Amino acid sequence: MYDKLVYELSKNTKVAYSLPKSLIKDYALPKELTRELPLDLPEISELDCVRHYTNLSLKNFGVDQGFYPLGSCTMKYNPKINEEIASLASFKNIHPLQSEESVQGLMQIYYETSQMLASLTGMSEFTFNPFAGAHGELTGLMIMKQYHLSRGDLKRTKVIVPDSAHGTNPASSALCGFEVVTVESNPDGTVDVNKLKSLLDDTIAGIMMTNPNTLGIFEKDVLEISKLLHDNGSLLYYDGANLNAILGVAKPALMGFDIMHINLHKTFSTPHGGGGPGSGAVGVVEELVDLLPNPRIAYEDGKYKFKSTSPLRVSNFYGNSNVVIKAWCYILTLGKENISNVAKYAVLNANYVKESLKDDYKLPITNICKHEVVFDGLISEKASTLDVAKRLLDYGYHPPTIYFPLLFHQALMIEPTENESKETLDEFINCLHKIAKEAIEDPNILLDAPHSTILKRIDDVRAARFPILTYKDYLANKDQF
Ligand SMILES: Cc1ncc(COP(=O)(O)O)c(C=O)c1O
Repeated sequence: MYDKLVYELSKNTKVAYSLPKSLIKDYALPKELTRELPLDLPEISELDCVRHYTNLSLKNFGVDQGFYPLGSCTMKYNPKINEEIASLASFKNIHPLQSEESVQGLMQIYYETSQMLASLTGMSEFTFNPFAGAHGELTGLMIMKQYHLSRGDLKRTKVIVPDSAHGTNPASSALCGFEVVTVESNPDGTVDVNKLKSLLDDTIAGIMMTNPNTLGIFEKDVLEISKLLHDNGSLLYYDGANLNAILGVAKPALMGFDIMHINLHKTFSTPHGGGGPGSGAVGVVEELVDLLPNPRIAYEDGKYKFKSTSPLRVSNFYGNSNVVIKAWCYILTLGKENISNVAKYAVLNANYVKESLKDDYKLPITNICKHEVVFDGLISEKASTLDVAKRLLDYGYHPPTIYFPLLFHQALMIEPTENESKETLDEFINCLHKIAKEAIEDPNILLDAPHSTILKRIDDVRAARFPILTYKDYLANKDQF
């Protein structure tokens, strides 16, 4: 019964809740506003309705249920206490149109979070206007564009993006009106500096990079790269979505980056995914602070004030305050002494997984990795990375990121994060060894996996191209299920 759609449970004799008869007298709506047909809502008892949605939610998999080693977009640690603090009535009930005087406490949190992130990254100031990582990228690129325009440098229409970059980097560059130029990586996964040199001329506005890159490899030539770009009159953008790899240990500004974003919803205590709420905080070096989108927050004469210095604006009001509150709590809870443990444990865990699996899974880059490790499928080649990922579902794990980055045909990207215990990692490692053995002894177990989920192999491409999102669409296409 609970596998049915809610409309299929509907019977017009059933009622979930009866509202008392209204005391308000009937009001005749103007004809053009009245509904011609009755509203087609399912009719179902309260208990069935609650059970239906509860059972539906249990079919989902979340980080609160089990290990979720999804490389690159992994959720880091989201302490529940920070959710509670951000939900306090005094925060939750603030209205975006309240006066500056009445929201001094919240403005202080914004101001202090900007200062703490500045000290962690070497940037001068952060804005919390953007609502997501990709929105932060767009904002940073708008700043880059504005910087060149304000200097009358109109020729800079191109942005360089390494082939190992997260997909949002080229997408954001294109959205901002730049032409994307790809620079290839060396076999060790880092940017090929000679190829980069050959791309530099006076049309290059900047480069978008992340360090460590999406292969989890530290760009050892970053200082040479930043000098090359700056000598060329170009800027450097740092994708700091996964700042847990270097938090408290290295600062992007000292590597030569001018603009960066951080996914607060991921590295700083807010779950990532489900479309929000997020905060793609953008930080810049001193020379660019006046280009940070309006409003900025200043502290003058003992008061926090909004100020506008830029031709840019990227959101209404001032971003997602609850995400910033959680980031503020998270940084203060860890404190200066402990925050570098985030990076140290993230790197330790990733290297532990790397070393433990390299006898069964191909390791194309053997160097020490940072927060994530990329394998290139099974050494035995008896099954594909997709098969391994599907088999992991049977063992109760969310699979790692697969087939990204595109540099390896059978990419399997694992990010254990800083917050998983050795016991959890050992269980996961054992499971991947077991799957590698199954692939040799009885590959069909993998080829037919998953065996334990309600749906088996889904046609991802079709699901993305022809999404069926309404009950009516489902009815029209029912024969395909
Ligand atoms: C490296 C990197 N850059 C950018 C993003 C985009 O962030 P968002 O999904 O919030 O737009 C992600 C996603 O988590 C990421 O891992």
